[in-house]
Amino acid sequence: MSNPTLLARHAIPGHVSLRIGTNGLAFADIDNAHGSASLCLQGAHLMSWRPKDQAEPVVWLSPLATFAPGKSIRGGAPVCWPWFGPHVTESGWPGHGFARTVPWELCDTAALPDGSTSIGLTLTPTEATRAQWPHEARLALRVSVGRRLRIELTTHNPGPQDLVLGEALHTYLGISDIGAVEVQGLDACEYVDKVAGAVRKVQRGAVRFAGEVDRVYLNTGADCVIVDPGLQRRIEIAKTGSRATVVWTPWAEKADKMGDFGPGRAGQGGWREMVCVESANALDNVVTVPAGGSHTLSVSYAALPL
Ligand code: BG6
Repeated sequence: MSNPTLLARHAIPGHVSLRIGTNGLAFADIDNAHGSASLCLQGAHLMSWRPKDQAEPVVWLSPLATFAPGKSIRGGAPVCWPWFGPHVTESGWPGHGFARTVPWELCDTAALPDGSTSIGLTLTPTEATRAQWPHEARLALRVSVGRRLRIELTTHNPGPQDLVLGEALHTYLGISDIGAVEVQGLDACEYVDKVAGAVRKVQRGAVRFAGEVDRVYLNTGADCVIVDPGLQRRIEIAKTGSRATVVWTPWAEKADKMGDFGPGRAGQGGWREMVCVESANALDNVVTVPAGGSHTLSVSYAALPL
């Protein structure tokens, strides 16, 4: 939806404003008593989130992020759906599926009694999406910005056949420095190490970073915590409806090749100031959405003092 008059109907003073921005894309900006966030309607892409008591954003957006029709945005919480990673047979199709690069419909906005703001969006199949995934599934995303940030992704399957799909909320979390943080909650989990050629390993203790990490942790519904002594905070990530967790940092060489992470606060590379902890259903843990049923992947994020 990029009609300014239709968009304006969803504005709520003190909560949500809508705007048409770069390249005609539509954006929703939330600013309430708890914090601020921005969302691009293309991809239903939550771009950033900063609670009022945090000096630094909790959801990280690259300063070099570009906003263009059909292009993914570097940072925020990309919606990966209906497959995760490269498509199994079609190398030319978009990595992580098409949901993050197509326009979504803004359905509703609401100011809730606890001071939080909620936004609901949907994605329905089009000729273009059916060409890559010939199913009638409808996708709904609800974002709630309050003391916590909540994102809920629901797949509705009205059809007569079960649907098997991969998905993730591929959230970029803001940190002081990748070399100084650790991710807790994955001890003893089996994971697929994509950097080591998809070898399977078992995590021992917390995840720490001294080089590129690209791992899919399997069979885990556990909450994770990013412990960040530099920013004196921990980011809690609690999920339901997700059986895989992806941990990703590109490190220097890959980030240079990707070219859109920016210089960072200290000029050491913006990639050092983010880590992706993604709540997913992928690889062994793709999800089956029953005929006539639905499935919801839900994640909540909070920043708390150390
Ligand atoms: C991660 C994948 O989820 O996303 C990585 O595990 C990938 O392999 C990364 O490089 C970024 O993907 P993209 O398509 O947003 O650049």
